[in-house]
Amino acid sequence: MKKICVVGTGYVGLVTAAGLADFGNSVIGADIDASKIEILKNGGIPIYEPGLSEVVERNVRAGRLTFTTDIDTAIRKSKVIFSAVGTPPGEGGEADLRAVWKVASSFAKNLNSYKVFINKSTVPVGTGQKTKTLILQESGNNDNFDVVSNPEFLREGSAVGDFLNPDRVVVGTRSKKAQEIMRDVYHALIIRNVPYVETNIKSAEMIKYASNAFLAVKITFINEIANLCDIVGADVNEVAKAMGMDGRISPKFLHAGPGFGGSCFPKDTMALMEIFKQNGIRTRVVEAAVEANEIQKRGVVDKLRSVMPDLEGKIIAILGLAFKPNTDDTRFSPSKVVIPLLQELGARVQVYDPVASDDFRRDFPGLEYKDNVYEAVRGADALILMTEWNEFRSLDLKRVKSLLRSPVFIDTRNIYDPCDMREKGFTFVCTGRSNCDE
Ligand code: UGA
Repeated sequence: MKKICVVGTGYVGLVTAAGLADFGNSVIGADIDASKIEILKNGGIPIYEPGLSEVVERNVRAGRLTFTTDIDTAIRKSKVIFSAVGTPPGEGGEADLRAVWKVASSFAKNLNSYKVFINKSTVPVGTGQKTKTLILQESGNNDNFDVVSNPEFLREGSAVGDFLNPDRVVVGTRSKKAQEIMRDVYHALIIRNVPYVETNIKSAEMIKYASNAFLAVKITFINEIANLCDIVGADVNEVAKAMGMDGRISPKFLHAGPGFGGSCFPKDTMALMEIFKQNGIRTRVVEAAVEANEIQKRGVVDKLRSVMPDLEGKIIAILGLAFKPNTDDTRFSPSKVVIPLLQELGARVQVYDPVASDDFRRDFPGLEYKDNVYEAVRGADALILMTEWNEFRSLDLKRVKSLLRSPVFIDTRNIYDPCDMREKGFTFVCTGRSNCDE
């Protein structure tokens, strides 16, 4: 059992704090945002993440998890300090590390005994070294600490499961003392034989960017194959399934759609491109994926226009604002590209999302937000399904058809079967499966 402080209670920090407490550690979740801590102290959860409230509640009740805004005291009381603060894109696309430096500074000022500083946030290669230098400077050369890189691989919407049952844990440090402490922190996973990778700090930092960029490239690749399938009459679902049977490829992250979004892939691909540039070389593969992804998002409007060329005065229903299901996060959501394009072409938009409307409203206050699918669809000339929420998988299609002014259904996520939908009388367009009859 280790005494741990996790600074940052966003989706990464809070899941990490709750998960580490669930492994039997004693954890303080610390944040400068008093309103978040207030919610947590009152038994609430400031973010939408399925399954998280149960884990938080269980560990608070067991006395293993507490929350505070007093970061200094939390650091002084702990041996292991996780930094899980935001690293949003800076002006040139590189990660903005100001929040990380702030945590490192507090760490330096409260170094009252040997401690480990662990970076959970996604940070450029070399940040670990810079963190060490900064802590030494700000602690008057007190070297009674180690810096570790321990990147997270949590998907929003499945973060709790990803933390408690990860594919692997990556720990970057060459310090034997820190390695031992980290093994103790993750003991509950190690005894279950979860792959546990020990490496140096720079490799751990690189593993994170390389993993996210690879997945972004993989999605973009299948999206381009889907676009070709649309033209030649192949079915991308069947193509992806058979491709995925090759163990070297794997079936995961081969779902064609409207392009990747979220707080991670767009930011991390940009940051990786910037790291390449700063080191005097280029990543043509990642650059191409980023460009193709933008085109993919805009392509949703072309799909609609292939069956409804003139959008002037038309009402379009958008189902799904979150960048993916089971989250209220709308950062870089494809809907944020599609909706303004529709408006530019003269369309009026009415939207529905099970949980992400409030988040979306901050950037798009003027849209018509509806309370359910059927209200969004009522009187619309076409509907575009943007996010594969479970509740969109079993729509009352008769009702949808009767509420639409014309039965135009654009399914960007390939939830519905094209032959079946056409039989039901819809003018149906999906992603890479357009020619169902051949
Ligand atoms: C991603 C990674 O999957 C996590 O491993 C990583 O820890 C996280 O970023 C991070 O760096 O914090 P996340 O952005 O939450 O997680 O969501 P994903 O499930 O990876 O989806 C990202 C985007 O790709 C979504 O827009 C999703 O709709 C899209 N996607 C995903 C597809 O279009 N097709 C797929 O087959 C898979």
